[in-house]
Amino acid sequence: MNPLHIPTLETERLVLRPFAIADGPRVQQLAGDRRVAEMTSQIPHPYPDRMAEIWIASHPMLWRNRKLAPFAVTLRGSGELIGAISLRLFAQGPRAELGYWIGVPYWNRGYATEAAREVLRFGFEDLDLQGIQATHLLNNPASGRVMEKLGMRYEGIIRQGVIRNGRLLDIADYSIPAGNFRPYLRVA
Ligand SMILES: CC(C)(COP(=O)(O)OP(=O)(O)OC[C@H]1O[C@@H](n2cnc3c(N)ncnc32)[C@H](O)[C@@H]1OP(=O)(O)O)[C@@H](O)C(=O)NCCC(=O)NCCS
Repeated sequence: MNPLHIPTLETERLVLRPFAIADGPRVQQLAGDRRVAEMTSQIPHPYPDRMAEIWIASHPMLWRNRKLAPFAVTLRGSGELIGAISLRLFAQGPRAELGYWIGVPYWNRGYATEAAREVLRFGFEDLDLQGIQATHLLNNPASGRVMEKLGMRYEGIIRQGVIRNGRLLDIADYSIPAGNFRPYLRVA
């Protein structure tokens, strides 16, 4: 593992690679869709110009300081950027929070699950994490389904666990310890 450079990961259909500044307009287009932004705590709507480029420019330093492992989700054949996935690494120990979004035209084809399964593998095997957690808004069952398909366990509701547009919202909390991760698990 090169501590200076974000690696590139591959799955059957996807290449998870570092973002480039040139990805900015595409990120703005896909993440700027209300249906994506409103399910996240961090993505504003409307999505301001240049915000994606500023976010992407912050990645190398965040990676080097072991704070974030961010990846552009791209299609293996065409190279199209279809989403983003990351591990936010906790300062206090070998744990991280998984986060992701996929552009609306690409929903329900298994891409989030495929990307996240590889990022969990990367977190446990390459970063030596002991546990990974993830949360979703209660009105986002698709994200909960992704977590289930990864073998993550539902831990419960965190009341008023996130602030979105100045409002405190309840979230569902999931986690998986390193020992429970099965890279080839397929949940029916
Ligand atoms: C959540 C999200 C990442 C899922 O991406 P995706 O590539 O469509 O995910 P997958 O195809 O791997 O899996 C989606 C699963 O949710 C299911 N699903 C979709 N809509 C659903 C709904 N309304 N209720 C219940 N399940 C639903 C799908 O059927 C699929 O499950 P299946 O394989 O058992 O059929 C995508 O919808 C997204 O980016 N949403 C907006 C941003 C977001 O929510 N990010 C996560 C924040 S926690």
